[in-house]
Amino acid sequence: MIDLHARASEINNILQEYLPEETKEFGDITEAMSYSVLAGGKRLRAIMLIESFRLFNNDREMEKMLANPFAAAIEFIHAYSLVHDDLPSMDNDMYRRGILTTHAKYGHAMGVLAGDALLNYAFETMFSTMKGLEKLRGEVVPELYSRVSRAAGIIAARAGYSGMIGGQVLDIVFPKDPNADKSILKIKLLKMYELKTSNLFRAALCAGATLAGASEDDLKKLDTFGYNIGLAFQIDDDILDETATFEQLGKDIGSDRKNNKITICNLIGIDAAKELSREKLNLALETLESLPGNKEFFRDLTDYLSGRKQ
Ligand code: IPE
Ligand code: IPE
Ligand code: MG
Ligand code: MG
Ligand code: MG
Repeated sequence: MIDLHARASEINNILQEYLPEETKEFGDITEAMSYSVLAGGKRLRAIMLIESFRLFNNDREMEKMLANPFAAAIEFIHAYSLVHDDLPSMDNDMYRRGILTTHAKYGHAMGVLAGDALLNYAFETMFSTMKGLEKLRGEVVPELYSRVSRAAGIIAARAGYSGMIGGQVLDIVFPKDPNADKSILKIKLLKMYELKTSNLFRAALCAGATLAGASEDDLKKLDTFGYNIGLAFQIDDDILDETATFEQLGKDIGSDRKNNKITICNLIGIDAAKELSREKLNLALETLESLPGNKEFFRDLTDYLSGRKQ
């Protein structure tokens, strides 16, 4: 079985390594960035990025040089998305990862700016890999430059207006009419989950595999795997928002109810939502089997995700 706690602490070391050094030169910004990133978190996207690299490449030196900074970068983007998600104008939440949300601790303006800074810094971190490549020699070097820019492009698009941000927009404008057609609402809801949540999983998986030199065909399969894992993940997040405790989640419980959101739970009921999540995870497992390499990690991960409690 995978030890996700041990894996998360490895990622924490990578994050420490890549975060900017703390300085007061620009006020509290570097402190607020570290605060937002280091509080904790399951680090699933970073772990998945490194594991998808490993599916196609066993070179640990190259993993350290390319996959580690990209793993840090995807967590910076994820952390920024959460900092903004918690803002008063979005979900208006006060706790995240067991501590005050960034805006609650540093004020609204710093919440906005720390999120912006993390997004930019994620791209600085991805492109910092170019420096390492300058020192290398040989035919493979142009190919590695190309992989870095393709991987950064995947993350940019999946995080952007037609990706995660698009999903957050659909979340805030989602219809609130309880008499609307349920089957249409369900389709719209799953589209929004795909956009806001599946996209960063897809980005992590496809960026890691791109850095490792995976084929287009295998990238498509990983993308489908990430799509289904992401849907299950958001369905379970909505279930946990109703059923878990603050101690388990470290974030405000009942946030969706407080904001009068239509969720998969209030639309089809918690039992049907659990069933739907299992269906999506089964679809993910089917896709996994068609991928090359040792898929044990991803099988275990899918297993962990089914019925997760935090
Ligand atoms: C929370 O993501 C936001 C969603 C997409 C549901 P995680 O549950 O992965 O948050 P952390 O990183 O572990 O805190
Ligand atoms: C996912 O939705 C948020 C992002 C994609 C940033 P939620 O709003 O449900 O996430 P939590 O529950 O606050 O972590
Ligand atoms: Mg939200
Ligand atoms: Mg939220
Ligand atoms: Mg939630």
